[in-house]
Amino acid sequence: MQLRWADEAAAAQCARQLAQALGEHPDAVIEMHGPLGAGKTTFVRHLLRALGVAGRIKSPSYAVMEPYALPSGGTASHFDFYRFNDPREWEDAGFRDVFAAPGLKVCEWPEKAAGVLPRADLQLFLDIADDDSRSVRARGKAALVRALA
Ligand SMILES: Nc1ncnc2c1ncn2[C@@H]1O[C@H](COP(=O)(O)OP(=O)(O)O)[C@@H](O)[C@H]1O
Ligand SMILES: [Mg+2]
Repeated sequence: MQLRWADEAAAAQCARQLAQALGEHPDAVIEMHGPLGAGKTTFVRHLLRALGVAGRIKSPSYAVMEPYALPSGGTASHFDFYRFNDPREWEDAGFRDVFAAPGLKVCEWPEKAAGVLPRADLQLFLDIADDDSRSVRARGKAALVRALA
């Protein structure tokens, strides 16, 4: 499915709709694709806010993970694999355990961890248009893709 976010407010609205749908899919794996500055972290921030995260939401740069407890009782893990280049780190950092456990996983730069990441439930492909709007292609589980529109 193809979407367009005219501005950040449109991305935030989309994130709120997705958060609603994730109630039925609390262990989903979401991939955020797109170039630097496309709005991946921004979208994840709005998503985590919509899921009830109240505190500071940092960008998990340096290939680290930011974990969050959700008011629902579940968890969310926000990954940025931009600097991920050693598959051994997958074991050493405990990422294998995180993906084996319940909870939402949202991944920026998933292509950098393509060999080790499990199959995604939802993939978003962001691009910056000339007018600064974002074109977004979505694929994955129908219930999650449909929620975005
Ligand atoms: N949906 C959007 N529409 C317009 N501008 C956006 C949108 N999302 C993010 N931006 C702008 O782009 C900048 C970079 O966004 P960011 O989320 O850090 O990108 P990424 O994580 O993909 O590198 C933000 O600081 C914001 O100003
Ligand atoms: Mg980012």
